[in-house]
Amino acid sequence: MNETSQLKQLARSLMTGQPKAAADPWRPNWHLAPPVGLLNDPNGLIHHNGRFHLFYQWNPLACAHGAKFWGHWSSTDLLHWRHEPVALVPSEAYESHGCYSGSAVVQDDRLVLIYTGNVKYADGSRTANQCLAVENDRGEFDKLGPVLPLPAGYTGHVRDPKVWRQGEHWYMVLGAQDLQLQGKVLLLVSDDLHHWQLCGEIAGSGLHGLGNFGYMWECPDLFELEGQDILICCPQGLAAEAERYLNTHQAGYLVGRLDYEQADFAHGEFHELDLGFEFYAPQTTQTEDGRRLLFGWMGIPDQEEFLQPTVQQGWIHTMTSPRELSYRSGHLYQQPARELTQLRGTQTSWQGIANEAPLLPAQSAELQLSSSGPFCLNLLDALTLSWDGERLTLSRPNLRTGELEQRFWRGELHQLRLLCDHSSVELFINDGEAVMSARYFPQGKVSFSLMGAAEVELQHWPLARCVVE
Ligand code: FRU
Repeated sequence: MNETSQLKQLARSLMTGQPKAAADPWRPNWHLAPPVGLLNDPNGLIHHNGRFHLFYQWNPLACAHGAKFWGHWSSTDLLHWRHEPVALVPSEAYESHGCYSGSAVVQDDRLVLIYTGNVKYADGSRTANQCLAVENDRGEFDKLGPVLPLPAGYTGHVRDPKVWRQGEHWYMVLGAQDLQLQGKVLLLVSDDLHHWQLCGEIAGSGLHGLGNFGYMWECPDLFELEGQDILICCPQGLAAEAERYLNTHQAGYLVGRLDYEQADFAHGEFHELDLGFEFYAPQTTQTEDGRRLLFGWMGIPDQEEFLQPTVQQGWIHTMTSPRELSYRSGHLYQQPARELTQLRGTQTSWQGIANEAPLLPAQSAELQLSSSGPFCLNLLDALTLSWDGERLTLSRPNLRTGELEQRFWRGELHQLRLLCDHSSVELFINDGEAVMSARYFPQGKVSFSLMGAAEVELQHWPLARCVVE
């Protein structure tokens, strides 16, 4: 299909689907969600001339994965967003099966997108081209075509370029699968964004003591934070353990030091970024005031996605809230971006025995909680959080079987901060030492309902809507 036909189909999809999607009671108030169709990875996150740009993997034609477009939102404050012209439409032969994930940089004061042109063949094989597109005066993106074909030694699974400037050069990390079907992250260098040279494999299965660590690594992101180099990556194919790696695919990070000359990244162990049910393909950028900001996709590929009931209303998935990253003693901390406190309405504070706590509305709300001992927090049985003094357990009924499924965190619990938005909860533990994110689909109006004999201290705020126009 040429670009005009694709845009005609997109227009029809929006005209027919948008009213239904917008009226869905599970639609978020302040998280970003696709107007219609399927959203997955955040792409091209950047802060430029006072404006945040967040692009996203988008199938506007169906609640299904497929030939992805790039949607585009922008905002000056992370609270008021506007729709920008659709950035990329998969219309060319070199991207026939999708304008897959990638990043944005600024060159000559214009945004340049670097993304993967995904191509599938009738025999089931595929290839990938890393491509450029540059912003024009209408806020649209003109494609410049492929700048990097498939490197030798890798299967067709090479994608998700994340590019940054370091000294005199541009660098790229790229997710890849080698011919032995091991997941890898490649480092490349360029002087002009158009000509790229492979420096080497900086991380992956079988490297730096990781052992067998997955058949494909997607969506790498590398940045410096408080003197450390942090590599975010999404390994696929890790075996589930009792209390970790419980999702179909993982999103996590490695802390180390990148030697740019030797393409060597000595790093420590892999940590999951989020211990909840839905979190994948995060991307970060540095804000103009020096913060490291992250958006993730509140979804997991291949994980019973299409049982989510919003599919009936013609849309599926949301972004996470924007999160600020910091680094302390070997760990990344994540906090909701400070801008989000502006969504807070009237504060309610309460202290007493958990069993006697008032029901507080949880539809679109923030709850901060500290407790002297075990407690249980229930959201209409659609989601339950329980603390037994050693382990925090997040439970919900599985959408297929109705049986309880669980995710865990262990540690010393000081404080919890829950951000709820109609069909999602993001739980920040101990000022962001760990995070658990989950979608859930309660039938009816939800309240926080507490149980237990412990003494609890609560702070609660309703959260206002984020405008998207
Ligand atoms: C991650 C991912 C990326 C790919 C994109 C396609 O969710 O599979 O590797 O570029 O989604 O939509």
